[in-house]
Amino acid sequence: MTAWQRLPGRSAARSATVAACLTLAATAALHLAARAEPGGPNGAATPPQGVVGHNGMVVAQEARAARIGADILQQGGNAVDAAVATGFALAVSYPRAGNIGGGGFMLIHRADGQDTAIDYRETAPAAITAGSFLDAQGNADAQKSRTSALAIGVPGTVAGLALAEAKYGSGRFTLADLMAPAIAMARDGIAVTDDSEETVPSVHARLARWPATARIFLKSDGGALAVGDVLVQSDLAASLQAIARGGPRAFYDGPLAEKLAAAVQAAGGVMTADDLTNYAAIERAPVRGTYRGYDIVSMPPPSSGGVELIEMLNILEGYDLAHADETQRLHLMVEAMKRAYADRALFLGDPDTAAVPVARLIAKTYADAWRATIDPGHATPASAIRAGGVVAPEGRNTTHFSVVDRFGNAVSNTYTLNFSYGVGLVAEGTGIVLNNELDDFAAKPEAPNAYGLTGYEANAPGPGKRPLSSMTPTIVLQAGKPYLVTGSPGGSRITTAVLQVIVDVIDRGMDIAGAVAAPRLHNQWLPDRVYAEPALSADLIADLQARGDEVVIQRPFTSANSIMVTPEGLAGAADPRTPGALAVGY
Ligand code: DON
Repeated sequence: MTAWQRLPGRSAARSATVAACLTLAATAALHLAARAEPGGPNGAATPPQGVVGHNGMVVAQEARAARIGADILQQGGNAVDAAVATGFALAVSYPRAGNIGGGGFMLIHRADGQDTAIDYRETAPAAITAGSFLDAQGNADAQKSRTSALAIGVPGTVAGLALAEAKYGSGRFTLADLMAPAIAMARDGIAVTDDSEETVPSVHARLARWPATARIFLKSDGGALAVGDVLVQSDLAASLQAIARGGPRAFYDGPLAEKLAAAVQAAGGVMTADDLTNYAAIERAPVRGTYRGYDIVSMPPPSSGGVELIEMLNILEGYDLAHADETQRLHLMVEAMKRAYADRALFLGDPDTAAVPVARLIAKTYADAWRATIDPGHATPASAIRAGGVVAPEGRNTTHFSVVDRFGNAVSNTYTLNFSYGVGLVAEGTGIVLNNELDDFAAKPEAPNAYGLTGYEANAPGPGKRPLSSMTPTIVLQAGKPYLVTGSPGGSRITTAVLQVIVDVIDRGMDIAGAVAAPRLHNQWLPDRVYAEPALSADLIADLQARGDEVVIQRPFTSANSIMVTPEGLAGAADPRTPGALAVGY
């Protein structure tokens, strides 16, 4: 079956999408002032978008999925119902990152004041060992951990979304109800609205090397998908239908699990049907901190995000950022980033197999000690913080969405296949794209992963282990109620993106659209450089260089689709860096 059919024309499809977006935004939404930013990843100009809704809001990286979630809210669903519907929808409409073959994290704030975190991170198959990603000489082998089927972790998304729904959904919908829109899109096909990613040569190559993938995601001549084509995912529709009928066990046991395991093994991986049977999503206590009177609730290990975020905020709380000039503020933020990322490398990993000193790292006194090492006028070289290796980053795609409902619940969800389309393998007969998440392990001490992140023993590969993540779904509370719901894709850049959104809102008083659109920078301790988005002013870059930082201009990687609760209503901001993102409020 050919998955791709041509629609009347590129511009027709694009204007249909734009028209649909405008209709939705216009129903109960108004545009807020927002700072200009030079556009999407490939330079396409996309205006910053801020949308106000009074009853509920979904902000997601792909418009159809955002609308599906908002529709569930309008039908009386709560934020978890909407998040689950959006999560399954993105697996169809945004297959580069939305998934059921990957994993992620969902942070939930409940109207009764409780916060909880659902860890549905992938696990390493039982046959993975500390040496799995090394070559014959004992060196880290990026081919094994990034492009081979050995990199595939046991997917957690179905377990995670189903757990969230069963425990925290409103009870008004069955899992099948929430999956129905996703199933319809997979079965009936969807218009391709953004072809930027698949035309990137490395992504095209990833899709082209597996026939089962190429049959779905490439045209019959092997060409990349393009705006105006229709993507039909019949096998995925059948897989989703099986889950809708049989619940999550239909994914983890029986024919679907057997097909997944067989496909991974045929491609040279080690995942077995038992690995799938043994997978469980885990509910964890979120990591919590405070920042200038706000409560910060974020993802605990096996994500590094929440710990690092709180550590950086604690360091920055000691400075008057609201009145610091821009260079000084950026300098202090970069210095905080270096220190938190150095701690990440050394201490963080799967809490079920490594002793992770979370309480120590997020203590205010620990931040005081780090702050004392910051020179307000000069950059501290990474080597003076801790010694380590160096590497170039590569690969991207994850997706974040935020949801707030009218009852006072909020969901912040980030999930991923790691790279765009993960390892690129669709398990034959399932339509399910599989991740390459196991590259997030430290294959060897100091050997960088695809994002240049290094690590040690705490994040060594091992059977059943969850690789350390940077995903940082976060909810900021004011007087116990949701104030800001945020998070982002972007590999190692995720946590610093979330940091900047929070500082821009709390310290700089920016509205959410402005904070989401504002140019960002990033430092991750190693490599010892500051990555700045092209929109950051040349003067600021020169000032940072004068203080001793090497600054490298790099295209945007992040997409902080966020919601802020304001006296005027829920303000949703889709990140203009990703042209297809949409905030839908009502
Ligand atoms: O869990 C992590 O930190 C990475 N696997 C996330 C990858 C990512 O964000 C790529 N996206 N833009």
